Amino acid sequence: LLLLLVGASLQGRCIAQGGGAGLTRGSFPKGFVFGTAAAAYQGDELQLTPGGLRKEDEEGQLVRGSREGGWQRADDLGHMAHTFGKISDFSNADVAVDQYHRFQGDIQLMADMGMDAYRFSIAWSRILPNGTGQVNQAGIDHYNKVIDALVSKGIQPYVTLYHWDLPQALEDRYNGWLDRQIVNDFAAYAETCFKAFGDRVKHWITLNEPHTVAVQGYDAGVHAPGRCSVLLHLYCKSGNSGTEPYIVAHNFILAHATVSDIYRRKYKATQNGQLGIAFDVIWYEPMTNSTIDIEAIKRAQEFQLRWFADPFFFGDYPATMRTRVAERLPKFTADESALVKGALDFMGINHYTTFYARHNNTNIIGRLLNDTLADTGTVSLPFDKNGKPIGDRANSIWLYIVPSGMRKMMNYVKERYNSPPVYITENGMDDGNSPFTSIKDALKDSKRIKYHNDYLTNLAASIKEDGCDVRGYFAWSLLDNWEWAAGYTSRFGLYFVDYKDNLKRYPKNSVQWFKSLLSSS
Ligand code: NOJ
Repeated sequence: LLLLLVGASLQGRCIAQGGGAGLTRGSFPKGFVFGTAAAAYQGDELQLTPGGLRKEDEEGQLVRGSREGGWQRADDLGHMAHTFGKISDFSNADVAVDQYHRFQGDIQLMADMGMDAYRFSIAWSRILPNGTGQVNQAGIDHYNKVIDALVSKGIQPYVTLYHWDLPQALEDRYNGWLDRQIVNDFAAYAETCFKAFGDRVKHWITLNEPHTVAVQGYDAGVHAPGRCSVLLHLYCKSGNSGTEPYIVAHNFILAHATVSDIYRRKYKATQNGQLGIAFDVIWYEPMTNSTIDIEAIKRAQEFQLRWFADPFFFGDYPATMRTRVAERLPKFTADESALVKGALDFMGINHYTTFYARHNNTNIIGRLLNDTLADTGTVSLPFDKNGKPIGDRANSIWLYIVPSGMRKMMNYVKERYNSPPVYITENGMDDGNSPFTSIKDALKDSKRIKYHNDYLTNLAASIKEDGCDVRGYFAWSLLDNWEWAAGYTSRFGLYFVDYKDNLKRYPKNSVQWFKSLLSSS
């Protein structure tokens, strides 16, 4: 009995300390920033028409709502979500978790946890409903209120300019990210935001996961705008997955570089902020120890992080991409290359999971379903060759829990890019809607606590033991929210949202865990 009691008290102390082997604030450097992350489309509320349905006019443009600041956002995600059958639970994000109206309360929840920062995104079409041209002052007013509320609670705003909700007008006008004109239009939108919010916002994330958009939106076709060149995807818009992901990627890179150039020339002196991109990075382990599999994981990373990050450090794409994609890979002119090189003040990294990768040069399935994957000459899987999973699975089919990947990846970034400043702009895990039988049950998220504890422990080791320059960590997400193709079937929140009862927020146990960690010294 005595042993049991001692054990229980030790366990209690560990949880109070932020879990595990005594992870505390002191495990991280002074000034290290903790926050949660979210995105406009996944969390806000869009204005509904009186009947509760979204209306479209003859041209297919979405009708604007009338309430102050909450214009109907005409974005391509909305179009995708409103096309029956594309989202696993047939949902859309018209209401989401209504952060648009409840931001004061949500910011209080962050403050209560002791969070230092909040990463959220501005909806481009809320600022510029037609993508360009007339500014919607009510939208500016809304974000001013959000930013002021954060600042008044001592929470720093980290603002993403593009978290996947492109104004529909730009998709209709010139196919959005496929056209070079988007670079100028994005720059004009970014400038509008710098002018309106740059006195208080010191960290800007121009783009969220451009690699995901290029591959999932223009190759696999499962995210907006849902383009691909494969007949198997009957619901895809017809595109060319052999070229489009590379064109879109090129425009993303030029868009960031152009915005960074404008910021440095016109705003840096007075606003003194920093600009980065949130890159999505899966860590890869070789399926076997064979040389070809070890080579394969290098290529997998070249076609993921390095595709988007190398140009900012070396002025061009990785050499392997040039060879394998050949004339389908756009080229930077000398001026563009100079503009891009050095245009990142920090790297944001969204990291959740690790996969095995193996060599496969004739990737027939890849060629059918996913051209960029076939171009890599690799196949990546969450199972080894005996079918054993690489880690425990969360709810999402792509999310396997492998905390050591965090430390390895930080070291990879440090070596490859010569110790750039890094923020973990997303990290987290989801539960499903089942097997919970009650909300009380859903709040017991010991798996999530362990996830954050173990990933953070690896992150702390990468800083203290390996010398990686990591400056902050954002948990995805404060609240359960609308998870793209998975709709409301995937819950990443530290807070549970009751979709059946007025979107009430309930703290999962991980809230207390973070609170203890953040109040420790
Ligand atoms: C990446 C995206 O940035 C975010 O929007 C998404 O919800 C999370 N990962 C989880 O899938």
